[in-house]
Amino acid sequence: MGRGGYGTVDFWDDYYVTDRPEPYDWFFSCSYLGGVIGELVSPHQDILMVGCGNSPFSQELHDAGFPRLTNVDNCALVIEQQRQRYPDLHWEVEDVRHLSYPADTFDVIFDKGLLDNLFCYQAAEDQCDHAMREFDRVLRPGGRYVVISFHPFEEIRHVFTRNSGSHDWHLTEILLRNPRWPEIRTPCFSLVIAEKPSGAVGEDSAPISQGILSQVSPESGESICLTEEEAQGYRDEAERLRREASDRLKARQREQRQVQSPPAVRAASSANATPPQPPLGTMQDQLQRRRSTLRQVPPPSEPVVHSDGFALKSAFASVAGVGDDEDEE
Ligand SMILES: C[S@@+](CC[C@H](N)C(=O)[O-])C[C@H]1O[C@@H](n2cnc3c(N)ncnc32)[C@H](O)[C@@H]1O
Repeated sequence: MGRGGYGTVDFWDDYYVTDRPEPYDWFFSCSYLGGVIGELVSPHQDILMVGCGNSPFSQELHDAGFPRLTNVDNCALVIEQQRQRYPDLHWEVEDVRHLSYPADTFDVIFDKGLLDNLFCYQAAEDQCDHAMREFDRVLRPGGRYVVISFHPFEEIRHVFTRNSGSHDWHLTEILLRNPRWPEIRTPCFSLVIAEKPSGAVGEDSAPISQGILSQVSPESGESICLTEEEAQGYRDEAERLRREASDRLKARQREQRQVQSPPAVRAASSANATPPQPPLGTMQDQLQRRRSTLRQVPPPSEPVVHSDGFALKSAFASVAGVGDDEDEE
């Protein structure tokens, strides 16, 4: 990893120069979402894209007919890169915990991977609180904060229930199919649509989930949303693959120890088999586990296999594009 942890600008400076200098979309592209976008935002609305990174998503959104778009990231370097790549769009260096915009400026805040990054900060809950207060402040009454995340609903919900500012946000939770499954090893992402009450009696917005649930991706031709049952099926499959790969890895490590160790220490070393890995979880978990696996696996003569059973290099690069680092906390 770079000079700092994931919750530091230093990390992202290094990431956008060294690890991922080319445009990259976390989770999926704007075109994958197709009609879902039109269910979330209207063309005349003011949109704030938070933690935009070097993703082409903003340009695609703009070209799809959503021109009132402001893109912010606290990494000045990536904002400069994006300005040069997409000069027609509006790019600003902003920290979501201290936004410079006046109250009631935006109708929609779009977050693809930003909250996940705040979860990796030191004192993460406090940092999320700061950001939430700012989102609450800059959103107009009746506005929406749209979150796409690796994290399960409960963890995202916690951010709102812990600190909802002076408002009771109305949350809609939808599972989005991961089009890069199984390369990126989570079958689905969380889409949470948090609505700030309009304040006007009887003016609560219509339920938004029905329109989204029926959408088919123009890119993949598949339905974009998963039922909980489908998602569970994928999770079970992921868990089965993980166990199989972990068993294979442990067997290989045992064999290697037996070849290397004198008989007297063989018995002791077999007691130190690699403990079972916990299920895949957050972005941070996934990155941590990739690094720990990199440390464990000796240089092989055959393709490197991650403990989850996928080609280590491509799985690692596909999620974060970051290299091994021994001094990560
Ligand atoms: C996981 S990347 C997501 C990038 C992009 N949204 C995408 O979907 O591909 C998280 C981004 O959030 C940015 N970020 C992290 N903390 C931030 C903060 N406090 N304020 C603004 N941006 C932040 C990082 O610099 C990084 O570009």
